[in-house]
Formats: sequence, structure tokens, C-alpha cells
Amino acid sequence: MADINTTISQIKKDLAAALSAAQTLDALEAVRIAFLGRQGLIAELMVQLKTATVDEKRVLGPALNELKTWAQTEFDAKKTILENSAAQADIDRERQFDVTAYRYQPLRGGLHVYTKFIRQLSDIFISMGYEIVDGPEVVNEYYNFEALNIPGDHPARADHDTFWLQHQPGMLLRTHTSSIQAREMEKRDLPLALFAPGRCYRNEATDATHNFMFMQAEAILISKNASVAQLIATAHAFLKAIFETDTLEIRVRPGYFPFVEPGLEIDATCPFCTSGCAVCKRTGWIELMGCGMVHPNVLRASGIDPEIYSGFAFGMGIERLAMLKYGITDIRNFQSIKMQILEQW
Ligand code: PHE
Repeated sequence: MADINTTISQIKKDLAAALSAAQTLDALEAVRIAFLGRQGLIAELMVQLKTATVDEKRVLGPALNELKTWAQTEFDAKKTILENSAAQADIDRERQFDVTAYRYQPLRGGLHVYTKFIRQLSDIFISMGYEIVDGPEVVNEYYNFEALNIPGDHPARADHDTFWLQHQPGMLLRTHTSSIQAREMEKRDLPLALFAPGRCYRNEATDATHNFMFMQAEAILISKNASVAQLIATAHAFLKAIFETDTLEIRVRPGYFPFVEPGLEIDATCPFCTSGCAVCKRTGWIELMGCGMVHPNVLRASGIDPEIYSGFAFGMGIERLAMLKYGITDIRNFQSIKMQILEQW
């Protein structure tokens, strides 16, 4: 008997100590299992009660019940305290949340400057009623040259530093997007208005403004009443739209391309300055594209009667336009895989 009383008071002391040491709900649960659990210390004493005599039971029963109730009450009280302080901690944390703190920004994907820019170009031409077309990068001599009024002995061939395919005579990597002209004119009904952005290749030394692989875009319109005035108006509208400025003016100079007659070069007032800057080399003008009225030989080669139909075409270097628009200083950056470079645009 005396033993049991000592045990009970020891258990009380131990439980009180364990409860005050428990600082988390998990730790408290461990205390509950040790003392009040089905195989805990108090349950163990209850088992001993079974073998006690009737007289012993009379004393021990109430003592153990009192222990159990006391233990449960103490436990519940501590649980309430811990729960409240956990809730308070949450509130404090929210109150002290620093919205200005640095947060690691995961790398987010984005469109390449090529894709973005080609979409902008295409949208402008779509808004003017043009259809976007694609063409192969490997073409035969006919589509890249002959159909464009550049026969084999034509000196203009020398200007196109052509990559010829080694094992397929007559096949080459297209040197300009004008190679889509005849392919499309042969198979389409008239009138037509097409815009064809795409990759081109020239066997040139690479520097900040030249690359052996680059992008061009071709615009071509064939109808019964295409005119130089229409060509100039279209180019002007397009350039104002892409540089997002209404004040941009253009000037037209003669230019030579075997597949147009007359052939023209279009310059625009510098979109970045009014009195001369580094971009326009202090001239106030920048050269932007080659264009002209489609040569009658080109129309005839594709089975179009130049007495009935006329057309205009223009070609632009996509990188050159994008470099001007976004201030990109090196054409090789378009092929860069460095995130610091790609992220700029
Ligand atoms: N294809 C020409 C070039 O690569 C550009 C051009 C296109 C000129 C259409 C006139 C008409 O330089």
C-alpha cells in the first residue's frame, strides 16, 4: 500500500515535470502516451489493481481514479496552452511577414527575340491582308536564281556567296527569301499578297553585322493594279508600325536587284533621333530595305502575263530591323545561348 502511494506521488511529480518540459504538441502527445496511454504508467497501475485484495481495492481504487483524473486535467490544461501559443505564433508570423524580403525568382521561359519579332512583323502584314507563307531553306538553283531573272552567267550571282550542296548538284541553301516568289506564284491564284519570313545563308565572314546564317522576310503582292505608289505606301505603313512611330518618314533611292524593275532602296528617318546619332551615323537616315516592281521576266517565268498583272516585292533583313528596334549591337547575339544575353529582350 505504502508502495503504491509512493508510486502515485512519484508519477504525479514525473508527469508534472514532463508536462512542463513539453514545448510542442508533438512532445505533449509523447507525454500523453507514456502516462495516459493504453500501455502507459497509469494503465499499468490499473492492471496491478486487479490482483489486489478487496480491502486494498477500496483504498487504491479511488486513489488511482483520482490520479487518472488529475493527470487528464493537467494534460488538457497544458494542451490548451500549447495550442494557444501555436495559434499566436501563426498570427505573429503573419504580422511580421516582410513583403519586401528577397524571394528567389525561378527562371521563367520566354519567347526568343526572333520569335517575338517575327510575330510582330507578321501581325503587321496580316493586318494589311497578307498571308504568311513558308518555304524550304534548301532550294534548287532555279528558285533561288533563274526564276528571279538571275541566269547562270549573271554577275549578280557573285553577290550571293552561295553555299552549294556538295552531293546534290544544283541544290543550295537559299541566299534570300526571294526564293519563295516563283514557288508561290506558280501555284496560287491571283491576286496574291504574301509575307514570308525565314532563314537564309551566305558564305560570308562573320562580324558584328554579318552572319553566314540570318533571317530575311519577303513581302510580295501581285494584282492587276499594283504600283510604285502602293509599294511606297505599304513600306511606309509597315515601317511606322514596326518602329511604333507616326513621325517616321521614308525616302526612296534607285537600287539594283535583277528581279525588280524599277529597283529601289528605302531609307527611313532615324527612329531614334532628330538631329543625328550613332545609329544613323549622324545622317538622320537609315537604310532599311530593297524593293521594286516585280520584273516582267519574273512574272513570265511563273506563267503570269505582265501585260495584265503587275506586282511589287520587298525584302528586309530581320536582324537588322530587330537590332535597330531593340538596340542589339551584335548580330551573333541572336544565336547566343547565354541567358544574360537572351533575357535582355
Ligand atoms: N532579295 C533581296 C536581297 O536579298 C532583297 C529584295 C527583295 C530586293 C525583294 C527587292 C525585292 O538583298
